[in-house]
Amino acid sequence: MTNQVLQDQIAYYRARAGEYDEWFYRVGRYDWGAERNAQWFAEAETVYQALHQAGKVESALELAAGTGNFTKELVKIADHVTALDASDEVIAINRTKTSPPDPLSARSEGEKRASVTYQQADLFNWQPTEQYDLVFMSFWLSHVPPEKLDTFLQAVRQATRPGGKVFMVDSLRDQTRTSTASNHAEYDPESIYHTRKLNDGQEYTIVKVFYDEALVAKLAEHGFTASYHTSGDYFWWAVGERLRG
Ligand SMILES: C[S@@+](CC[C@H](N)C(=O)[O-])C[C@H]1O[C@@H](n2cnc3c(N)ncnc32)[C@H](O)[C@@H]1O
Repeated sequence: MTNQVLQDQIAYYRARAGEYDEWFYRVGRYDWGAERNAQWFAEAETVYQALHQAGKVESALELAAGTGNFTKELVKIADHVTALDASDEVIAINRTKTSPPDPLSARSEGEKRASVTYQQADLFNWQPTEQYDLVFMSFWLSHVPPEKLDTFLQAVRQATRPGGKVFMVDSLRDQTRTSTASNHAEYDPESIYHTRKLNDGQEYTIVKVFYDEALVAKLAEHGFTASYHTSGDYFWWAVGERLRG
C-alpha cells in the first residue's frame, strides 16, 4: 500500500500547489482564529530564527522545497541554493518567492540573495551527486514512512559534506488539532496514513509521521550529531552536523 500512497502524495501536492500557502498563512479552512493564528506565526518565526542562527553557508540543498516558504529564508543565508521537489507546480510558485521581479528593488533592500537552481525529482528514487554545506527540509520528513527512513537518511548523509549541517523542521503532534484544516479528520495515533482534502473536496491519502526526539539517535546512526527542539504546540526542528570521516 505504501508505494501507492507515496504516488498519491505526489499527486496531492501537485493538485494542491495553488492552495498550499493557505495552510502556512492560516487562510480559509486553516484559519483557527486570531489567537491561534498569532501563536502559529510566532512559532514559525522561532523556527526561522533558529535557521538563521545556524549560520551562513556557501551551498544549501533544500529537499521537497514546495512553494518556497523556507526557500525565501535560505536565499538569505546561502550563496547558492539547490531546491528540489517532485512537483513542477510548486516549483513555479517557489520561483516567485526567490526571484524579486525588479533587480533594482532587491538592491535597494540591501539584501543579498542566493542564486537558486531548481530540480524536479522523486526523493524516494534519489541519489545525490553533490555535497552541500547545509541540507535542509521543512515539513518533508513526516511524509517519509518509517520503513524508508534509513535509506532516506543515508542519501541525506551523502549529500552533506563532512562537517556540514542538516536542518529539519516539521509538525509536532499538536494537541489543539489546529495545525490542519477544519474539515480534516483527526490524526489516528495508530496509523501513518492521513486523508487530506482539497478545497474542492477531492480526497487523497498521504503519509504523516510525527517523528520525535528519538530522531536524534537515528541521526547519530547515520553519522550526524544533532539536537531536537520544539517551538510550543506546532513545530519541532532538529539541527545537526555531519561527523567527519
Ligand atoms: C508538506 S509540503 C512541504 C513543502 C515545503 N518544504 C514547505 O515547508 O512548505 C511537501 C512537499 O513534498 C513534495 N513531495 C511529495 N512527494 C515527493 C517526492 N516523492 N519527492 C520529492 N518531493 C515530494 C510536495 O510536492 C510538497 O512540495
